[in-house]
Amino acid sequence: MKAAFRSRYGRHDVLSIKELDTPIPTENEVLIRVYAATVNRSDCHVLWGKPWVMRLFTGISKPKIAITGCDFAGQVEAIGEQVKTFKVGDKVMGFAGALGYGTHTQYIVFPENKGIVQMPAGLPYEQAAACIEGAFYALGAVRALNPTSKQSALVIGATGAIGSATIQFLSMYGIPVTAVCEAENTELVQSLGATRVIDYKTQDFTQDDHQYDLIVDAVGLYAFSRCRHLLKPNGSYTSSGGTSNLFWALATRFVGNKKVVFNMSFKIKEGLAYIKEKIEGGSFRPVIDRQYPLARVAEAFEYVATGKKLGNVILTIEN
Ligand SMILES: NC(=O)c1ccc[n+]([C@@H]2O[C@H](COP(=O)([O-])OP(=O)(O)OC[C@H]3O[C@@H](n4cnc5c(N)ncnc54)[C@H](OP(=O)(O)O)[C@@H]3O)[C@@H](O)[C@H]2O)c1
Repeated sequence: MKAAFRSRYGRHDVLSIKELDTPIPTENEVLIRVYAATVNRSDCHVLWGKPWVMRLFTGISKPKIAITGCDFAGQVEAIGEQVKTFKVGDKVMGFAGALGYGTHTQYIVFPENKGIVQMPAGLPYEQAAACIEGAFYALGAVRALNPTSKQSALVIGATGAIGSATIQFLSMYGIPVTAVCEAENTELVQSLGATRVIDYKTQDFTQDDHQYDLIVDAVGLYAFSRCRHLLKPNGSYTSSGGTSNLFWALATRFVGNKKVVFNMSFKIKEGLAYIKEKIEGGSFRPVIDRQYPLARVAEAFEYVATGKKLGNVILTIEN
């Protein structure tokens, strides 16, 4: 099988396409022919081995997993003897967490009881792949905020994989959502449910006098200290990044009436099942920026690393 392979940490140019043996499923695993996956910001960090603390899990001097990728959409090709919930021919999608699993390849084996579900009916593989990593983190962020319909929300980085999904999950609660993005993407974020749009290129939203019950810094660039005044009393903030937020998450448990909360969801199977349900019900749709074939995986990483993608970048895994 072909796979996106690297033997050391580095930028996209450490990647090459390599021919490897197809894995064999153990009794509780399924063998999946992967047809699409995302190249996402988590994959970039795993490729680079940065931040360094990540290497405690991914390998100190070189990556433990040589193949990149953490999510997948594909078809079950074979099952282990004990597998009960999947059969050969099922279309499935899954996610193994931000630390990588090696999904940028034609075949993977995956445990039946981990983060794998049936794909939404009728959805192409590319679209299914775009409903996994970013959507899962967005769902975790929104659930951590515990929204109610009477609240209002601000989503910063609204056009990213996490941001575009966050707008949709918040809108499901009937919440008015203000999206921070570039003006040219106004129509896109409105189509996802945003009720107000702030162009961050021409307007400093941190100087805005609006206040919100909930703030999601989906792009991870606006620490709580910069956004605190934008929160109403008893409001909550969450972010995809920013180490100072760890301190604030602890401090705001004891001081003040504005909270920093963290998305600590590890229930991937349940989260993906929820996303599948929302796609089938028509209330969630993925945003795809562009697609690359596996042979151009390095280019896909180079583009994702710019931090400019609109929603998701898809890797298609051809024959
Ligand atoms: N904590 C975790 O477990 C976890 C997991 C996954 C990802 N992350 C982190 O979450 C962040 C977002 O991930 P993602 O996949 O959603 O990223 P992404 O898709 O790369 O998001 C980038 C988007 O943010 C917009 N953007 C960039 N700078 C902005 C700014 N200053 N203000 C407003 N919007 C801005 C960009 O729009 P323009 O091109 O228009 O600027 C682009 O559409 C990344 O930093 C990633 O590392 C964290």
